[in-house]
Parts: sequence; structure tokens; C-alpha cells
Amino acid sequence: MSPSATDADIRAIVSKVRAAGGEAFISRGDRHAVIVLLGDVELFAGLNLGRMAGVLRVMRVSTSYKLVSREHHPERSVVDVAGVPIGPDNFTVIAGPCAVESAEQTAAAAELAMRAGATLLRGGAYKPRTSPYAFQGLGERGLRILAEVRAETGLPIVTEVVDADDVDVVAEHADMLQIGTRNMQNFALLQAAGAVGKPVLLKRGMNATIEEWLLAAEYIAQRGNLNIVLCERGIRTFEKATRNTLDISAVPVAQYLSHLPVIIDPSHSGGRRELVLPLSRAAVVAGADGVIVDVHPAPETAKCDGPQALVGADTDELADSMARLAEFMGRQLT
Ligand code: E4P
Ligand code: PEP
Repeated sequence: MSPSATDADIRAIVSKVRAAGGEAFISRGDRHAVIVLLGDVELFAGLNLGRMAGVLRVMRVSTSYKLVSREHHPERSVVDVAGVPIGPDNFTVIAGPCAVESAEQTAAAAELAMRAGATLLRGGAYKPRTSPYAFQGLGERGLRILAEVRAETGLPIVTEVVDADDVDVVAEHADMLQIGTRNMQNFALLQAAGAVGKPVLLKRGMNATIEEWLLAAEYIAQRGNLNIVLCERGIRTFEKATRNTLDISAVPVAQYLSHLPVIIDPSHSGGRRELVLPLSRAAVVAGADGVIVDVHPAPETAKCDGPQALVGADTDELADSMARLAEFMGRQLT
């Protein structure tokens, strides 16, 4: 639909398609609304949809994912997270603790995040842990701590939701919902996150192909939300020297196939502090739209993923490297 299309224009198309026995899904992005039509293509051709008010173009999309495909949307998207743009003109640093452990630890981590040049604060209140005995997060108390730190620092919050039943409470506090690697194909969660209307950070499943990842994003988009950022966070390979293998080629491939922004997570992929800077540098020059990085004021006491958290002076180095390389790539650091 053209940017000037009205809700009435959109409703008129949906009614016409449904009256003809088809199905229509509306998704709204920053500039355009897109309507995906499912049904008899020959029949749609007879409806003269291209002449209806507000329609920019009607086209057939051959990929299995439609709304997130670059085929119908050649220009790359910008996702706005509470005023922070993630997209092709910028390089966005998201940083914070892996898990919210206390108000003091989160505030100290937010200081480090700002030192690292972050404009968005990450932090898990609900933690997806391999062991049921490991720290599972502070839940709603963690969300309230994040909201307090946002009030003090002005940093919008990115936080994970692990259960469809928690989407509303997480969306109440968060500026962006994160769906983690373990939940990339939790379809009920993807749909609930898509319906709530906040931007979504969708991590790639550690065993997922790029096509499966884009189809997961399509579940969110199909619920009306095109404000999705993809995050490559490493995949499982035979290699044991790193926690996961950062698939750097996923950055240009996903950007070629989809109009959505793509960032990387050097912390969960490398799994070790000393790998975070080199992987972040690689991300900028591979064309990524940002990074999401763990920081912790005292990683030796961290309740989750301490070995991969940046500390003190590392954050200065990250800020400096990201600024210089973003400039080299013709991007503005947001
Ligand atoms: C992310 O923060 C995850 O909760 C964490 O990496 C899971 O790791 P685990 O295998 O130690 O639970
Ligand atoms: C996280 O970023 O807190 C997280 C759980 O990461 P991943 O889903 O990539 O393991």
C-alpha cells in the first residue's frame, strides 16, 4: 500500500479479497502497510486490485516467506525502537547484562553499556536455561528493575520473552521483545509477540537454516507487525573452540533475502570475552546493522554467562572500534 493509504482503503481490499474466497493478512511497517493475499491467484487477477485506492503495487511473491521477503520490498527497512533506529544507515549497539540479577547490578551494567556506546539496554528477566536448576531470572521483578534503570538512564529496553502467556506483561515494560534461539520455532510465542505490536528482536535458532529463520519472522509479520530485527547468534557446528559458530555469512545472505535489519550477537556465539571485540568488528564490516553485547560489572559473580561479558576497559575499546568502523562503512553510530 502507498504510504498515504488509509485504514478504509486497507479494509476495502481485505473485504474484496475475502468476498472472493481468499484470505488477506495485513502487516504494518515504518512506512508502508503490506497485505498478503492467499488463495486463487487467477481469481485475484480479475479483481483489479491495482486500481483500488491506496494500492501502490500488486505482485506475486515466489518465496515461501512473503512479508519479510525483499522480493516485494527492495528497500531495506528501518525498525524504530522508542526513537532508536535500526537499519541500513545506522549501526546500533545494544548492551547490558545477560540476566537482571538486582537493581544495583543492572544499574552498574547500564553504565557499562553506555560506556560501550549502547543506545538500547538489554537484560533478561526471564532466562531460558539449559538446566532447570540454573538461575531462571527474576521475572516481573526483573522487568520493574529494567523500567527503573530506563527511567534513570533514558535507555530503551530490549528483553526476552520465553512464554506466550508472558507476552503482555513483558510488552508492558519493554520497548522491544526478544525471542531467543531456543524459541525461534515456538510458533504460538511468535504469533503472540507479533500481535502485541512492539518491535521484536528475533534470534536465529542455533540449529535453524536461514530460510527457517525467515519463516519464523514471517509468523510475527503475519500477525501485523513488520518491526522485526533479525539477530545471528551463532549456530551449532562440530567446532568446540567457540560456544557456537558465528555464521557471518548469514548477515549478507539474510539482508539479500529479506528487507529486515540484521544484527549479530558476538557474546552468545563466541561465548568468551576475548572473542567479543573481533566478532563485533567483523560484524560491522560484513554489513550488520548492529550488535547485541553482554556486559557485567563483576562477571565472576554473574548468575548467567559471566565468561562472555565485557568488563570495564573492554567497553571503551568496543565503543572506539564500533565508531571507527561504522564511519568506514558510511554508517552513523546510533
Ligand atoms: C542466555 O542468556 C541463555 O539463558 C544462556 O546462554 C543459557 O545458557 P545455559 O546453557 O548456561 O543455560
Ligand atoms: C540472550 O541473549 O539472553 C539469550 C538467551 O541468547 P540466545 O537466545 O541467543 O541464547
